[in-house]
Amino acid sequence: MDKLYISGGKPLIGSINIGGMKNAALPIIFATVLVGDVCVLENLPEVSDINTALEMISRMGAKVERLDRGTYRIDTREVRCGSAPLDLAGSMRGSYYVLGAELGRFGRSATGLPGGCNFGKRPIDQHIKGFEALGAKVICSDDAVSCFAERPLTGTSVYLDIASVGATVNIMMAATKAQGMTVIDNAAREPHIVDLANFLNSCGANISGAGTEVIKIRGVSELHGGTYAIIPDMIEAGTYMIAAAATKSKLTITNVIPRHLEATTAKLIEVGVKVEEGDDYVTVSYEGELKKARVKTDFYPGFPTDMNPQFCVLLCLADGESVLTESVMDNRFKYTDELARMGAKISVHGRDAVVTGVTELHSANVRAVDLRAGAAMVIAALAAKGTTVIDDIYHIERGYEDMVEKLRGVGADIRIVRGDRG
Ligand code: EPU
Repeated sequence: MDKLYISGGKPLIGSINIGGMKNAALPIIFATVLVGDVCVLENLPEVSDINTALEMISRMGAKVERLDRGTYRIDTREVRCGSAPLDLAGSMRGSYYVLGAELGRFGRSATGLPGGCNFGKRPIDQHIKGFEALGAKVICSDDAVSCFAERPLTGTSVYLDIASVGATVNIMMAATKAQGMTVIDNAAREPHIVDLANFLNSCGANISGAGTEVIKIRGVSELHGGTYAIIPDMIEAGTYMIAAAATKSKLTITNVIPRHLEATTAKLIEVGVKVEEGDDYVTVSYEGELKKARVKTDFYPGFPTDMNPQFCVLLCLADGESVLTESVMDNRFKYTDELARMGAKISVHGRDAVVTGVTELHSANVRAVDLRAGAAMVIAALAAKGTTVIDDIYHIERGYEDMVEKLRGVGADIRIVRGDRG
C-alpha cells in the first residue's frame, strides 16, 4: 500500500496554487454526455476520481484526448446509451451523474450504485423523485439503478426535501432537454451547481437561478459543444488555509475565488487567524494562540461538510473546549479515532464532536479513512512533532492534485512511498 511519511513541526512558507474543483469537474464531465458533441474542458484537476470519470465515459464510447495538463477534448457524439461500466460506478460518488446525463439525452440510463466516501447512509431518493416527476420510471436493485421514459420528459416542479448537490445536478441535467419548464425548489446553492449551469448554458441550455434556491430550466431541443474552464477548488484551498494556521505559518493560496471561501475564512478569523483577501488569492497567517469555537457544517453558503475533518485538527490545537457539529452527513466522525492516535482529545456524541484542545499533537501511524479525513491527517502530521505515517492514501489521491509536490514547495518534509503493486 502507498503511504505518506510526514515529519512535522516545521513552518510552511510561500504560496500554493489551487487547481480545478473536483466536485464541479465531475458533473461537467458527465454533462458532456448530455451535450453529445465535442467539448474542451480546461482546468480539470488531475486526480483519480476525474480519471475514473473520464475512463467511464470512454468506455461508453466517448473519445477523450488529453490536449495539455488539465485540458481534455471530449467527443461524446458516439456515446452508446446504457453502456455505463458498472464496475467503475462503485468506486466514486459522482458516477451517478451518468443517470441525469443519459436520461436527458436518450430517455433512459442504467448504472451501478455509487460509491465514494463512507459517511453512513447516503440515499438517492431525491434524485429518484426528480426523475419520476419528469416522467421517468426508476428501478433500484441492491447494486444498480436504472431509469427510462416511455414518452419525452416533461418539465415540472420539484421540491427537494434536502438541498442535495447530487440531486440538483441530476435533475438539472435530465431537465435540460425536457419539454417545457422545470423548477427545482430548495435546490443546492454550491458554486459547483453554478459552474454546471454556466457550462450547460454555454452549450445552449436555458438555465437560470443557479446559486439560489430556485433553479429554472427551460428545456431546449439542441445542445452544442464548446470550451469551458472549471472553477478553482474551494475545498482544496480551504485545506491549505487550515494547514497554514495549524503549522503556525503564513501561506498565500492563489487562484481562488475568495467569496467561495467565506465560511472557512470567517471561522479562521474567529479562532484568531489572520486572513487577507485579494482578488484571486488569500493570505493566511498564524497570529498566536488559537481560540475555541463552535462550528456547524451546513449546505452552502454554510460551513462546508468537506472541511469538517480539517477544521477539527485546528480545534484540537485551540485553547479550551470546542464543539463541531455535522449537520449534512450521517456519520462523518470516523477520522476522530485516527486523530486520537496523535494525542487529540475528541469525544463524539451523535452529530457533535466535543474537542478539548491540547498543546501539541504527536506523530503516529494513522489511516486516511476517507478523502477529507486523509487531508486532515496530513494537516495534523504537518503540525505534529516526529514522523507520522499515513496509510490508505488512495483516498487523498481521489481529490487532491499534487498534494505532496505542493506541500514540499512550501517547505514541508513529506514524501510518498509507493508499495509493491506486484
Ligand atoms: N441525501 C438524501 N437523499 C438524496 C440525496 C442526498 O437524503 O437523494 C442526503 C445525503 O445522505 C447526505 C446529504 O443529503 O446526508 C447531502 O447529500 P448531497 O447529495 O448534497 O451530497 P453528494 O452529492 O452525495 C456531494 C459531494 C461531496 C460533498 C457533498 C456535500 C460530489 C461527488 N460529492 O456529495 O463531496 O460532501 O456533496 O457538499 O460532488 C468530497 O469531495 O470529499 C465529498 C464527499
